[in-house]
Parts: sequence; C-alpha cells; structure tokens
Amino acid sequence: MKPAPFDYYAPKTLAEALDRVAQLGYSAKVLAGGQSLIPAMNYRLAQPAALVDLNNVAELFYVRPAADGGVTIGAMMRNSAVEHDPLIAARAPLVAEVLPYIAWPQIRNRGTFGGNIAHADPAGHLPAIAVVLNGRCHVRSRRADRWLSSDDFFLGAFMTALAPDELLVEVALPPMPARGGWSYRQAARQAGAEAMVGVAALVSLDERGRCAQARIAYVSVGEIPQLAAAAAQTLVGQPPTADAIAAAAAATADVDPGEDIHATAAYRRHLVRTLTRQALTEAFERARNGYAVLGIGDSQGRADRANTQYPIPNTQYLKALPITVTVNGVRYERAVEPRLLLSDFIRHELGLTGTHVGCEHGVCGSCTVLFDGQPVRSCLTFAVQAHGHDVRTVEGLGTIDKLSPLQEAFRDAHALQCGFCTPGFLITLTPFLEQNPNPTEEQIRQAISGNLCRCTGYQHIVEAVKLAAQRMAAGA
Ligand SMILES: Cc1cc2nc3c(=O)[nH]c(=O)nc-3n(C[C@H](O)[C@H](O)[C@H](O)COP(=O)(O)OP(=O)(O)OC[C@H]3O[C@@H](n4cnc5c(N)ncnc54)[C@H](O)[C@@H]3O)c2cc1C
Ligand code: FES
Ligand code: FES
Repeated sequence: MKPAPFDYYAPKTLAEALDRVAQLGYSAKVLAGGQSLIPAMNYRLAQPAALVDLNNVAELFYVRPAADGGVTIGAMMRNSAVEHDPLIAARAPLVAEVLPYIAWPQIRNRGTFGGNIAHADPAGHLPAIAVVLNGRCHVRSRRADRWLSSDDFFLGAFMTALAPDELLVEVALPPMPARGGWSYRQAARQAGAEAMVGVAALVSLDERGRCAQARIAYVSVGEIPQLAAAAAQTLVGQPPTADAIAAAAAATADVDPGEDIHATAAYRRHLVRTLTRQALTEAFERARNGYAVLGIGDSQGRADRANTQYPIPNTQYLKALPITVTVNGVRYERAVEPRLLLSDFIRHELGLTGTHVGCEHGVCGSCTVLFDGQPVRSCLTFAVQAHGHDVRTVEGLGTIDKLSPLQEAFRDAHALQCGFCTPGFLITLTPFLEQNPNPTEEQIRQAISGNLCRCTGYQHIVEAVKLAAQRMAAGA
C-alpha cells in the first residue's frame, strides 16, 4: 500500500459533508477528483488522518445559468464534463477553451472544477481563469456561508482562504461583457504538460470600437494568479491596433515569471510578452467579430452513479470496507482498506495483471482503466471509490481466441515492443474509436498524448489506430 492509513468518510449529502469536516478539522482532507491529492498521498508527501470523499454528494455536480447571464459551476463537476457543457460554451467560452489544456482526458475525467481551484497550484489553469473572469467562490461551513472574490480566495502557492471546516461548494462566473472577446495561449513542453507560461485574456470594446476593459492573467507565473495591470492600462480607451497591442505586451515588466528547471527567467519573460500579444490579438478579434450570449437551459451535470445500485457502506473506516464492483462484467464483493489503490486492487485482489503500474502519479497512463466507460488513472483512484461502479480493464477488451479489432491492429501494425504501455493505450483508444470512428492523425495523436511509451513506438501506434478504424468501418 502506498498511501499511509487514513479514516475514510463518504458523505452522501452536503450537510453530512459539512458536519464531517467540522468534526475532523485540520486532521482531514477533502477528496474531490483526487488527481492532485492522491499522487501526494502515494508519495506520502500528504498523510491526512482522514479523507472526506465528496464523490457521492450529488448536490455538488451541476452547471447552472445564473440570473445575471453568467454561470455557476458546482465544485464537484468533472473537468471533462464542464469542457463539453453547452452552457459553458455559450456563457463562459474561455473556460471551454482552457480546459483541454489541463493534462489529458484521463485526468479531466476525474479531476473537478472546484478541486482545481481549491488546490491553488501556481501551475493550475483554473485559478487564473477565475481571476481573469472575476469569478466568485461560494464557501460553506456549519458556521458560515460566504462568497469570496477570486482575489480574496487565493492567498499563496497551494494556499486559499478556506478554513479547515469549510468547503468550496460552487464557483460563479459573471456574464461575458458586451462586445467581449477572450483568448488563452500557452507554451508547454508537450501536449498536456504543465504550462511554462499560460496567458488568459478577457477584453471588451466600447461603441466606438475602443478598448473598454482588458483583463490579463497568467498560469505558472508567480504564486497566485495576478492581473497584468500596467499592460491593461495602456489599452483602455485606445483602439486595439497591432501597435497598441504590442505596446501592451511590452508593458508586462510588472509580470515576473521567475526561473525554474524548465526555463530561464529571460525565456519565460519572452513567453509572457509573446503570448500576451497573441492572446490580446485573438481576444480583440473575437470582440470585433461579435460574440452573442446564447440562452441555453440548465444542464444537469453528470453526477456519479455511486448511489444508484448499491447503498454506500458504513462510511467510517474500521479496518476494511465492503465494496461491490463490476469488473469486465463480473461482480466482485470484497473488503478493502480505504488506502488500497484501484490499480493495486485490480492487480493483487482480482489477479488482473494486464493493468500496469508505472509512475503512480498520473503521468504515464499505463494504469488506465475504463471507469463507467471513461478512461481514468487507476493509480489515482481508491478501490473503495469503485463501489457500485463498472470497471473495464484490458482483459475485458477481447479474448485470446478473439482479440478486439484494436488489439488485432496493434499486433498487425507492430504497435508494441515490450508491451508495458500497451494496455493503457488500448483502454484509452477503445472509447476514443467508438466516439471517433474516422479519426484524423491529429486527433489520434491528441488522444494518446496522455500515454507514454518508453519503447517510443508512437508512429506504429498511430498506424494501428488508423488500421483499426479502417477495418471497423469495413465491418471486419
Ligand atoms: C499528471 C497530471 C497533470 C496535471 N496537469 C495539470 C495542468 O496542466 N493544469 C491544471 O490545472 N491541473 C493539472 N493537474 C491537476 C488536476 O487538474 C487536478 O485534478 C486538480 O488540480 C485538483 O482537482 P481534484 O478534483 O483532482 O482535487 P483533489 O486532488 O481531490 O484535491 C486537491 C486539493 O483541494 C482540496 N479540495 C478539493 N475540493 C475541495 C472542495 N470542494 N472544498 C475544499 N477543498 C477542496 C483537497 O482537500 C486537496 O487539498 C494535473 C494532474 C496530474 C495528475
Ligand atoms: S499514470 Fe498511473 S501508473 Fe502511471
Ligand atoms: S511498447 Fe514498451 S513501453 Fe511501449
């Protein structure tokens, strides 16, 4: 077992969750998507005495239109669900634009909107988006119910104004300004990697086509996202010509990205200037071309299905908790320690060793399984969280006698060498091909960007996916 032992609580309502965090105080951590907390626990950098798992609190999964024309997002909305939500596309297009930059689909399928903000990682995307959009954070505890501006919410790297008995329950984003435009640009070493520098811009024009407001905030620059005030000031009241935008980008001297192992300070300053110019150019272009706020109804969000079939067991950790989980169509009943990772449960409890374990912090993708049909990292999910859910591993894709079309194509196109990464690729690509029966090469490369192959056989993998798609289209 990698994480240190902890007591596990899985409240089913917000009221229960608030009671639990009030009772446990500093000793507990809230578990949202687990995509930042579980890696830290796997490495024992974090050793909370207790976890309060919010994944069964259906009240926190929603995207709703706000009366002011903006939108409110429940803290537990999965990032992948927000990414594809039509209300977000219509009312908060900058959010829809930035979400695909957060790691890979496997991480976004578990990671939550509220978790990303509450984590306050300087390299996190959503804190900067909350700041640039002037979002507000709704925070609740047993003793208080308060709204904080994003300026007041973020206090430092990984530090927020949340007290130990408080939960972030939702984030409200105001409507897009009239004649508004937006853009997000970033530089990263590879698709899905942390941004070296990311720039988010929100602008609006007045009736004469001059800049009415400009808000610019950065990802991976400083401990908390800050607005580039001087650059914005140069634009207000001016026609947003190429020269005015260049002058604003040059006025980013107050933005100090510092130096890290990935890039020198000089290079990162260069990125700040260049990406600011690009983001502002695109944002003003969009503002000029007109942006209509669409009226789209409430979208319910995608609540977890945990409670639908099986009652949640007694949620207080004693020694082992009973779980019922369906893996590859077979229903298993087991008792598990809360700290047992789903990857280890699948391999050691069920003997399904096709799911491989590489990095155990979400980077390599070899442990990917389908969780209710969606690819997720099994090394960043606890087995106890699979209670009542449906899991599919590589063993469930085909049989020795009859491989799946994708497995056959991998074999025929020589898409594996040592085979260590192969189960993760197959699991990631199976739903991808179902949803994209005729993918382009770019889409295939994007789909596999969250899976590493140490034998570096990517070209053959891409060929295998094309071959599988052709054969499936031909009904072979
Ligand atoms: C390989 C990898 C790459 C990544 N790359 C990026 C990236 O490029 N950009 C990016 O933005 N993120 C990235 N992430 C982080 C990912 O988006 C996380 O999901 C996110 O930062 C945390 O959200 P979560 O829901 O998983 O929260 P968790 O990991 O469950 O929680 C994170 C922290 O927030 C607290 N918390 C969570 N929800 C609440 C709440 N409602 N109220 C109070 N406290 C709460 C938890 O107690 C914990 O301290 C990456 C993660 C991985 C594993
Ligand atoms: S991503 Fe889970 S083992 Fe690497
Ligand atoms: S085939 Fe060896 S790691 Fe990918």
